[in-house]
Amino acid sequence: SDNKSKSWHEAHQLAAKLYHHVLTVSDEGKQAREYLRGRGFTKEVIDHFQIGYAPNSWEFLSRFLLKRDFSMEEMEQAGLVGLRDSDSKAYDKFRDRIMFPIWDRQGKMVAFGGRVLNDGKPKYLNSPESQLFNKSDILYYFHQARPLMKKKSEAVLFEGYVDVISAWRAGIDNGIGGLGTALTENQAKMLRRNIDRIIICYDSDHAGMQATYKNGQLLRNVGLEVEVALLPDGDDPDDYIRKHGSKRFNQDVILQSVTFMSFIFEFYRKGKNLQQEGDRLTYIENILQEISQLSGAVERDHYLRKLADEFSLSLEALKQEQMGLMKVAE
Ligand code: CTP
Ligand code: MN
Ligand code: MN
Ligand code: MN
Ligand code: MN
Repeated sequence: SDNKSKSWHEAHQLAAKLYHHVLTVSDEGKQAREYLRGRGFTKEVIDHFQIGYAPNSWEFLSRFLLKRDFSMEEMEQAGLVGLRDSDSKAYDKFRDRIMFPIWDRQGKMVAFGGRVLNDGKPKYLNSPESQLFNKSDILYYFHQARPLMKKKSEAVLFEGYVDVISAWRAGIDNGIGGLGTALTENQAKMLRRNIDRIIICYDSDHAGMQATYKNGQLLRNVGLEVEVALLPDGDDPDDYIRKHGSKRFNQDVILQSVTFMSFIFEFYRKGKNLQQEGDRLTYIENILQEISQLSGAVERDHYLRKLADEFSLSLEALKQEQMGLMKVAE
């Protein structure tokens, strides 16, 4: 109901304000402040993204919200506190974590992502899913990036909070993030309604490459033109920006993004030795399969030529083979 969602958002807003206050001015927030400073988070960034810190206490937030007439039940439903099995006593879910508020597409705060300050596990803890916080409907920073996305008809998709924030500092104001590498059709359609083109900029590791491949197809299937911004092996956008700076991130990564099909050529190359006949044939088959999935005849022709040139193959033979694959697909 409306009442329920109102108290939900209010609870989140109050919690975010409190966490932000703890981070920015209190003694308890000192370590978290230093952690964030060490990672290059400026005051402007901390304010703009309303970042906070949940202190290492079991009832810091619940006590605060109780005083403001929120019931334990409301807090529990909002995912901010848990109830102990033994005696139903409430405890704060987020303790000793950097807190990132998460907004829905209207800009209402609906959840938190909390990061540990050290190597603890899990690295990120997100609010539990519920009627009001559905992970598969949320893109981090969407409500803010939306007008800028629309203006450019383009967005840059990152893996999570930190990369969106670092990229924002580097001048990318149309960046949004999944909550991890998963992406749903809902999220893809939400993007399609606002833009024509998307640049995927995921971590340059195995999980990031696999997700780029999978999500690239999903985004293409809802009608988006997909490009991929590639980073050196092992880096994520935040790592890269810290090592090489904003200017190089814009010039050498974002502006150098390649078509999704070029990414696919690279993707299938990984781990193969194309000097070796078996690997080479597998590679050619993989690429032909991908070409068969393209909807435009001109595009198909273009990539067939590229493949033919690459291995000095006859274009005719490739065309025939590819036509066969298309028939099978039908
Ligand atoms: N994530 C999550 N839960 C985890 C791990 C990751 O929700 N246990 C989400 C977070 O939104 C995170 C994103 O997936 O930002 C990408 O994960 P990862 O690359 O591991 O984290 P980074 O964003 O690189 O975080 P950091 O730089 O702080 O290590
Ligand atoms: Mn600002
Ligand atoms: Mn990652
Ligand atoms: Mn990462
Ligand atoms: Mn990172």
